[in-house]
Amino acid sequence: MRQGFTGKIILITGAGGGLGLAMAQRLASEGAELILSDVNGERLQASAQTLLEQQVCCRTVVADLAQESGIAALADSVCADAAPLHGLINNAGLAYGEVAHRFTGLGLAKWQHFLTVNSLAPLLLAEALRPALARARGAIVNISSMASYAPATAYGVSKATLNALNYGMANAFAAEGIRVNAIAPGIMATPASKGSLPAETYARVQAQQLLPLHGEASDIAALAAFLLSEEARFITNELISCDAGNRMRGWRL
Ligand SMILES: NC(=O)c1ccc[n+]([C@@H]2O[C@H](COP(=O)([O-])OP(=O)(O)OC[C@H]3O[C@@H](n4cnc5c(N)ncnc54)[C@H](O)[C@@H]3O)[C@@H](O)[C@H]2O)c1
Repeated sequence: MRQGFTGKIILITGAGGGLGLAMAQRLASEGAELILSDVNGERLQASAQTLLEQQVCCRTVVADLAQESGIAALADSVCADAAPLHGLINNAGLAYGEVAHRFTGLGLAKWQHFLTVNSLAPLLLAEALRPALARARGAIVNISSMASYAPATAYGVSKATLNALNYGMANAFAAEGIRVNAIAPGIMATPASKGSLPAETYARVQAQQLLPLHGEASDIAALAAFLLSEEARFITNELISCDAGNRMRGWRL
């Protein structure tokens, strides 16, 4: 087992299951000290319990990233005692339901909510954590989506905006040695994606892949671990698809 993250502190948002939990498990297996956050306290505790059963302890912080006060409270908790932060994974997101299906008729408040959680919170959290990331010459991974390539829904727009912010963040933070990259997952098996997408949609999107494979949360976890690792020290400002070639097929809803 590689231990490339021993002594390294990594914060994962939206860690109450799915991709967030898979990334926590992967990084813990390589020795990382984890801080997990989510707006949903019950889901967060369930993730912590799953890790505990695997002999992994983590810190948990309940925070609503739709609120500036939630972002500030999370950052204050992470930055206490001038601790360094080696990695931030901006994974929290609204991905299913109305945000995934609609483009028109949402109204200002909903657009603001979706864009706040999916696009702006990653930037504002990274800004608030910048001193801690700079102390460690840390790395940020923003979890985007293949939906960002064809933004025909509020979700796609919010993730396309995140891609643009990924570029801005990489430029703004580079002078302090902070690397910033994004991952655009294809359709990955998580309880949320399986539970929210109709089986027909799931199968149809999967059938558009070049590779006839089932995307697993562990596929994203492996890429995130690489991007946070020292092996990726020369990589910043990238958006990397992990979608079995779906983007190459001109993915459509
Ligand atoms: N699973 C997929 O197929 C897939 C594909 C592309 C992108 N993604 C992205 O990956 C991420 C995780 O997806 P998932 O499938 O594990 O879904 P998920 O719903 O299990 O994970 C998202 C987490 O974000 C949290 N969250 C929502 N609003 C929040 C807020 N205001 N503050 C803090 N946390 C909040 C939720 O409670 C949830 O635990 C999301 O950003 C999603 O857009 C997933």
